[in-house]
Amino acid sequence: MLPIREVLSGSALQRCREIVAGGTWADGRITAGSQSEKTKNNLQLPEDSTAARQAAAMVLDALSANAMFFTAALPKRIFPPLFNCYTGGANAFGPHIDNAMRTISGTGQRMRTDLSATLFLSDPGEYDGGELVIDNAGGAQPVKLAAGDMILYPAGTVHRVLPVTRGARIASFFWIESMVRDNEQRRQLLDLDMAILELRNSAGDTPAVVKLTGCYHNLLRMWAEA
Ligand code: NI
Repeated sequence: MLPIREVLSGSALQRCREIVAGGTWADGRITAGSQSEKTKNNLQLPEDSTAARQAAAMVLDALSANAMFFTAALPKRIFPPLFNCYTGGANAFGPHIDNAMRTISGTGQRMRTDLSATLFLSDPGEYDGGELVIDNAGGAQPVKLAAGDMILYPAGTVHRVLPVTRGARIASFFWIESMVRDNEQRRQLLDLDMAILELRNSAGDTPAVVKLTGCYHNLLRMWAEA
C-alpha cells in the first residue's frame, strides 16, 4: 500500500474536478461483477461520456509525468481511469474484491489487474465517512487522502468504501497491470530504487552506487515482462 502525493495539483486538479462535476452520473453497477454489484451502491460517470474521457486523459497525463508512480507500479498497462461519486442514498460499497481480468473497452484488449488505484478528487473536509478500507495482513487500513493524492494497493485485497454521511466523495479509480506481477518482487525493487536514489544524492555516483544500480536493472531484467 503506497500513497502518492499530489498526482494532480493546482490548476490541473481544479480543471479535472470541474470536468467531473459537469458530467452526468449513472448507477455505479455498470462496471461491477455479479458478486460486487450486490454490495455496490454509488454513482459513476459512463466510461464513454465526454467528461469521463477528458478527465481520464488528464489523469493518464499526470501519471505519465509521475516518477514515483512509475517506480512503484512499473506499469505495463493502465485501465482507462473511471470516476465515481458517493453521496446521498448512493453512498457505500461493501467488502469486495476487484476482478482479476478486465477488458479495455473499445480495444477489446484484456489486462490483468495487479494493482488498484484510487485518486481522491474531493478534499476530506468536503465529506464525512467515505474511507477506503483495505484489508491486509496488518488488519483493516482506512484511507482518506487529500484531493489530488492517490493510494496504490494490491488488487488482490478485499476492500470497501464506508458510507458517506455528509457531502460527496468524488474519486478516480483504475487498475494497473505491472511489468512485475509479484507484489513482493515489486516491493523489493521499489525499496532498492529508493535506497539507490538516497545514496546518489548523498554520495554521488560512486563505483558501488553504479554496481547497485546494475543490481536493480538486472533484477528488473529477471522479473519484468514488457
Ligand atoms: Ni474495488
